[in-house]
Amino acid sequence: MINLSGKRAIVFGVADKTSIAWAISKWLADAGAKITLSYQTRFRSRLVQLTKDVEWIEHMGECDVAYDDQVRDFFNGLEGKYDMIVHAIGYAPATALSKPVIFTNEEDYKTAMVISSYSLQRIVRHSLRVLNPGSSFVTLTYLGAERVVPGYRIMGVAKAALEAFVRELSVDIGGMGHRINAISSGPIKTLAASHVPGFDNILGFMEHTSPLRRNVNQDDVGKTALFLLSDLASGITGQTIYVDVGFNTTALPTDIEKVKFE
Ligand SMILES: NC(=O)c1ccc[n+]([C@@H]2O[C@H](COP(=O)([O-])OP(=O)(O)OC[C@H]3O[C@@H](n4cnc5c(N)ncnc54)[C@H](O)[C@@H]3O)[C@@H](O)[C@H]2O)c1
Repeated sequence: MINLSGKRAIVFGVADKTSIAWAISKWLADAGAKITLSYQTRFRSRLVQLTKDVEWIEHMGECDVAYDDQVRDFFNGLEGKYDMIVHAIGYAPATALSKPVIFTNEEDYKTAMVISSYSLQRIVRHSLRVLNPGSSFVTLTYLGAERVVPGYRIMGVAKAALEAFVRELSVDIGGMGHRINAISSGPIKTLAASHVPGFDNILGFMEHTSPLRRNVNQDDVGKTALFLLSDLASGITGQTIYVDVGFNTTALPTDIEKVKFE
């Protein structure tokens, strides 16, 4: 049993009850941690509704990670010290997601990279002054960072940079005793995922062909985040850990002998 009593976490990326960040928050809170939520203004009313009567939330604040001053001001507005930070943020403009990357323009590229990748560096940099020694960060990535997944497009480029940031940042903050890791989650139906073309087919293929013959859910990811953020993972940093029901180990569908080609 992981005991996080007396520990405090800051979670970025809750948009609604399907958010991976919400599941992570609940697992951390179940283990005894107090949670501060940072959210985008456009989700304010959903967040107010979602957190009504939730006693383990100690603070909530708006922050758009596209802007350095908003991230700085968010951390300046906090009191006391924290132990865990979750970065569960991803975004690419629809104009980029709807086209192959060969047509991605510079502006959309910058937006996807800043929000989905550089924002991790921003959060780490501005958070250092509020962290206890030996703190831990977790971010969320996807297999599209290292292999081509149809429809993922510019997000694959941004997630590849995010995973590289995790390795680089592990060295930058390791001397302070802090750790940082990424969870490479399998596909889960959330608001962000609904923007990926063909997402339902990806879910169907995963269920059919992954070693565990099912899809990943938010709790699978929440439990791994709890482990990585806790002292049980004290020797793990700079890693990308798959929580994908084993899919990344497969190369071809398990029933390849039944596949017919025209
Ligand atoms: N759902 C999946 O299939 C899947 C798989 C692997 C990785 N991920 C990653 O998990 C993370 C969480 O996504 P999710 O699937 O829970 O979807 P979600 O839509 O619930 O969460 C995405 C979050 O990003 C936030 N965000 C976007 N732009 C922002 C900005 N400018 N400033 C602040 N916040 C911003 C949104 O407010 C939202 O809370 C993302 O990094 C996503 O890429 C998701």
